[in-house]
Amino acid sequence: MRVNRPESDIDPILTQAADRFGTPAYVYSTDLIDARITALERSLGRWFKLSYAMKCNPNPELLSWLHKRIPCIDVSSGGELMLALGAGWRADQASFTGPAKREVELRHAIEAGLGELVVESLREARLANRIAGESGKIQNVVIRIAPDRVPKGFGDQMAGRPSPFGIDIEEAPAALTEIAALPHLRIAGLHIYSGTQCLKPAALVENWGIFISIFRELCEHHDLHPDRLIFGAGLGIPYHPGDQALDLDEIAEAIAPELDALRSDPRFSDTDLVLELGRYLVGPAGYFVTRVTSIKESRGTRIAICDGGMNGHLAASGNFGMVLRRNYVIHRVGGGAGEEPIDITGPLCTSIDKLGAKVALPRIEEGDLIAIHASGAYGPTSSPVNFISHPAPREIIAQGGQLTDATRIESCGLRDPS
Ligand SMILES: Cc1ncc(COP(=O)(O)O)c(C=O)c1O
Repeated sequence: MRVNRPESDIDPILTQAADRFGTPAYVYSTDLIDARITALERSLGRWFKLSYAMKCNPNPELLSWLHKRIPCIDVSSGGELMLALGAGWRADQASFTGPAKREVELRHAIEAGLGELVVESLREARLANRIAGESGKIQNVVIRIAPDRVPKGFGDQMAGRPSPFGIDIEEAPAALTEIAALPHLRIAGLHIYSGTQCLKPAALVENWGIFISIFRELCEHHDLHPDRLIFGAGLGIPYHPGDQALDLDEIAEAIAPELDALRSDPRFSDTDLVLELGRYLVGPAGYFVTRVTSIKESRGTRIAICDGGMNGHLAASGNFGMVLRRNYVIHRVGGGAGEEPIDITGPLCTSIDKLGAKVALPRIEEGDLIAIHASGAYGPTSSPVNFISHPAPREIIAQGGQLTDATRIESCGLRDPS
């Protein structure tokens, strides 16, 4: 099932957000997130519970809205755990991933009653065991495994080659034996997150198939009856013109035999399968809105210079893990007739501050609003918002036409008077 929304529906919300709260601004539509949760549950909910990887968007208002809709959350730092707790999540709903957890973070998480520690190395297991012992606790852990193979088609690959994430599958049998013997840890399950931003159903299905065979093999070898098996979803979203949104039903149909077989195996009859994901839930529900401060005609190219650029939205400038910069889907808020190519740049004194090259838009003039799609994930907290001390982007939550200022990052930038 695909979830889309025509621009004409969102434009009044984007205009209102920009007029009331200023630009640059991120606008997150909870109606759109709701539709995505519903679509995921409809297609994949018969096997999976959802876990929100909050690194993609840790906005506290959004976290507290999501808390009422999603059962689990994945945090990747002590700071994220504190944000999640502050937004109403219980510590026992949280898993804690990350390759370099520090003692202070582990102690805080274990003492707070963390659901599962996602153990990424033997060093971490030994440290967590000591801390749990000192706190008089037995800590549930799920062991993150790094497979030796990731199918082609993932925008970012975290295994299948040397990688800091998780325990390499070659080392896993010995590591699990050692972890199982640690008296203050209890192995509650296994975790794999080996790739992300995949738009190819066949590659996703093949990858989940790899997870299933690793989970089966390790659980049989160590005679585990796991509480949970965490599948790092890897579900991608369309960012660029021409990208095709995933068809969840197609994925569900292709993976059904393997998941049904896993479910009906007595070893896994009490196991929760968890789909851990971030961008798929919130990415397409967010827009970055920037206002044109100035137009320049330069040697035959028309350039719209905007009040927010790479400093507010690093990913759209192509500098967040992309080999080649490609335009995001962009539109002029309010539409307009005709199309002509225009470059879109931000306010920074660097040529890499470019949000769009030769974008075909209705004629853009000073004061216009430009909206960048697929901006709900890896936005403000993944961007160098303090570079050159411009105002950090506002963050606005739109719920059924109601707008709330949920700005998290304040900066030293001088705002326009409102
Ligand atoms: C361990 C882990 N879980 C979840 C995610 C979320 O990925 P995405 O936002 O692509 O779903 C990531 C992304 O890097 C990750 O490393």
